[in-house]
Amino acid sequence: MKNQTITVRPLSAHTGAEIFGVDLSEPVGEQTDLEIRQALNDWGAIFFRDQDITAAQQVAFGRLFGKVEAHGYASNMPSVAGQEEVKEIARNPGDVRNIGGFWHMDLSFLEHPNYASVLYARELPSHGGDTMFAHLATAYDALSPGLQATLEALSTVHIKTHAYGVDGQPRKGISPAYYAKMLEKFAGIEATHPVVGRHPETGRKVLYLSPFYSDRFDGWTRQESVPLIRHLASQITRPENTCRFRWEEGSIAMWDNRAVMHFALDDYPGQRRVMHRLTVVGPWLEPVAGSALSD
Ligand code: SIN
Repeated sequence: MKNQTITVRPLSAHTGAEIFGVDLSEPVGEQTDLEIRQALNDWGAIFFRDQDITAAQQVAFGRLFGKVEAHGYASNMPSVAGQEEVKEIARNPGDVRNIGGFWHMDLSFLEHPNYASVLYARELPSHGGDTMFAHLATAYDALSPGLQATLEALSTVHIKTHAYGVDGQPRKGISPAYYAKMLEKFAGIEATHPVVGRHPETGRKVLYLSPFYSDRFDGWTRQESVPLIRHLASQITRPENTCRFRWEEGSIAMWDNRAVMHFALDDYPGQRRVMHRLTVVGPWLEPVAGSALSD
């Protein structure tokens, strides 16, 4: 019988694990579902190889973990034919912009971000195009008790349009005209999240802060905020806190945006890369005592 016994092989000390023995085109039984959830909680990101699934099967897999949502209003990504919730992330040879090419948690600029993402590799460059992941709970654990306590009282404001530019400057690959259009299209899409939250399944405290989307600490100026945001980002992304996933066609990554941030590497100039992404809604991070937004 398929999908009865799974093997979990970690990619690094804290972050990411490959799962073997699962065929996602077949129903996943209750026990296997539990083991996959456990692996996701243990490692923040899990990876399956050699999958051959339709967009509808990708949606069915996502539904094992929660409600699957499209969030079309907050995205420029086209849907995959017939399946509104599955978004195509395509990079063509002439494209300068690399979608997801910065450390981030998906949709952190929403008040209730989708907690899980499921990304399916459809077309890959001959080399490069890996995705990196960094664990937000191990990053929190490594901070000094003094800084942990300070951060528990803080929140940051996450702004959607920071994906296109910041402080009036378009990012690499974005023209000033496109940046202006995005500022208009996505005006007001922002959310304030506590910097420290408690993961609802593992109970661990996580450092929920985005080097790109976090504009400032709530109540602070941007100028005051940037040095500390940069320091925390450098702590989260310390090499020993990360893993790097090398895609093959048919690979699927699933990650928990409450536990890891990720980065799509830009090292395959002149080649095409196409991924199908789905995001899942579920319980969000819980406030910790002393948190700015806990009362
Ligand atoms: C994303 O940021 O959601 C996409 C990551 C990737 O394409 O590797």
